[in-house]
Amino acid sequence: MCGIFGYFGDKNASEVILQGLKRLEYRGYDSWGIAVLANQITLSKKVGAIGDLNQLAGYPKSQVGIGHTRWATTGVVSDINAHPHYSSDKGFCLAQNGIMENYQQIKNELIKKGYKFESDTDTEVIVRAIEDRLKEIRKISRSARNDNGGGDLKEAARQVFLELEGRNTIIILTRDGEIVSLRNGSPLVVGLNEKEVFFSSDTLSFAPHVKDVVVIDNGQMVYWDGKLHLVDIKSNRTLPYKSEKINFESSKIDKEGYDHFMLKEISESPYVINQVLSRDVKLDEGFIKAIKKARNIYTIGSGTAGIAASQIAFYLRLFAQVKAQSVIGADIYEYLNLLIKDDLMIAPSQSGETADVLEVLEVAGKKGVKIASYVNMPGSTMARISDFSFPALAGPEICVMSTKVFTSQIAWGYLLAKIISGKAEEGKSNLKKLSEAIDQYLNTGSNHEAIKTLAKILAKSKDIFLLGKYQNFNIVKEGMVKIIEGSYLHAHGIPAGDLKHYAITLMEKGVPVIVVVSKDAARGDMLNAVSQVKARGATVIGISPAAYSGFDYYLPVPDTGETAAIMNIIPLQLLAYYMAVELGHNVDKPRNIAKSVTVK
Ligand code: BG6
Repeated sequence: MCGIFGYFGDKNASEVILQGLKRLEYRGYDSWGIAVLANQITLSKKVGAIGDLNQLAGYPKSQVGIGHTRWATTGVVSDINAHPHYSSDKGFCLAQNGIMENYQQIKNELIKKGYKFESDTDTEVIVRAIEDRLKEIRKISRSARNDNGGGDLKEAARQVFLELEGRNTIIILTRDGEIVSLRNGSPLVVGLNEKEVFFSSDTLSFAPHVKDVVVIDNGQMVYWDGKLHLVDIKSNRTLPYKSEKINFESSKIDKEGYDHFMLKEISESPYVINQVLSRDVKLDEGFIKAIKKARNIYTIGSGTAGIAASQIAFYLRLFAQVKAQSVIGADIYEYLNLLIKDDLMIAPSQSGETADVLEVLEVAGKKGVKIASYVNMPGSTMARISDFSFPALAGPEICVMSTKVFTSQIAWGYLLAKIISGKAEEGKSNLKKLSEAIDQYLNTGSNHEAIKTLAKILAKSKDIFLLGKYQNFNIVKEGMVKIIEGSYLHAHGIPAGDLKHYAITLMEKGVPVIVVVSKDAARGDMLNAVSQVKARGATVIGISPAAYSGFDYYLPVPDTGETAAIMNIIPLQLLAYYMAVELGHNVDKPRNIAKSVTVK
């Protein structure tokens, strides 16, 4: 996943684009590049974290330019593979967010025509293909313009874009100072104010500057030539565009004194639960009706959001007796033929742009399945294609490892289940108590100290096991994800019931096993599991309201009743955080992953 950015306005383009890229860095941070137009296009790009203003010395003052921050998909991480890529005569440059699945075949055809390639990216193939098409168009139109601006280039880009396979969005800066962007799959939004226009992969990147946003749909080309134009790529017809006000509950992005965004965002857990409570449940009436009418209810997500989806389905089954089942966004093929009109699909998602999930929702929507989404990023694609869209209003989540948004998603799922079962007030009261309990937990230094001590020990482990059951199974799975993402160690969340069937063979002296035990129906089974792993020499770390025998380390948590699972994720998020810090990793931007996976 990458971030693309474009700017035209009265400020110095390279500085505005740099700030925009810094706000997009969560989408990928292997390399970055900026191109601006003065009397010619000046472009520079490099591997590594996005730099500071002092790295812009080489750029001329300019009022128009584009930028890109990369998460490598095709082509290794290198300066030459960074975007944007110049055309051969430097008449335009181009950056992409997405994957061109048929790039090799098009590249081979271009090589036969004599084109040379300096990088091994699919993006450079798009540049050469546009150059090639431009030549053909000029031959036909004999308007042998000696520049790369104007209608011919847009027409060449439009034609080539129709031949690309895969989900992607491209952005082009022309020598005429035009910005042209075409979207199919990866997100694209345009921000406007009286003097400026911003192109970007998300609304947060230009939030401080604009209120009016034009969200670009798949199959549309948008360009700026002093005015904004919207075109249907297939028919080449000009389309009217409408801007919408995006309410940024907060677009402030700074650590506010915390060492890392991750710790700041965990500390915002009480706030995000209060945001769930602030919802007007009357808004849910249509949605509740759709839930009761649906023949089949699916919850769907990828990564951490996929685990949240599973916990939401659990709460719907447990508290609302609704037969909801969760599916993992990247693996639902056999379900597609089972989807029928008025089924319901519920998607929690931080970005609202996860390609795997979007693809399923688009197919489901065409089959008459009702779509509901719970999304944190304002103006996202998922929210736009939903029949019922619920903003998480959790504020920007910058750390690539999702924490407060996961907590928000499962708290919302719990309240939804309580509302359906006619116990909205009880649900709200329980969440209020939970919010207070988490706030107190986070503000108790001894909790952090105990977890920091444990983090130092576990940071030396090779394999870390987590055992959970019933309401806590998804919680230990999410704990596994957090530990893997932050420490790059192998962690394994196991349903406690399966322990005896395979995992117990891995139990031996000193193997660390984290067990999450609540005062619920599964407590007895969990304590059996503790004694079974202890009998084989494992080191047991208990997260529980009571210090049961068998715990070698004990992390006390308050007993919050029906919401115990939501409480239990907090110590696991903190453990993952302190392990990442202990190991000296880049906590907010772990290696190889990105915050929003907008490619398949
Ligand atoms: C992963 C993120 O890449 O994508 C996870 O690291 C996230 O934190 C997952 O849960 C799905 O993304 P989203 O935006 O749909 O929640």
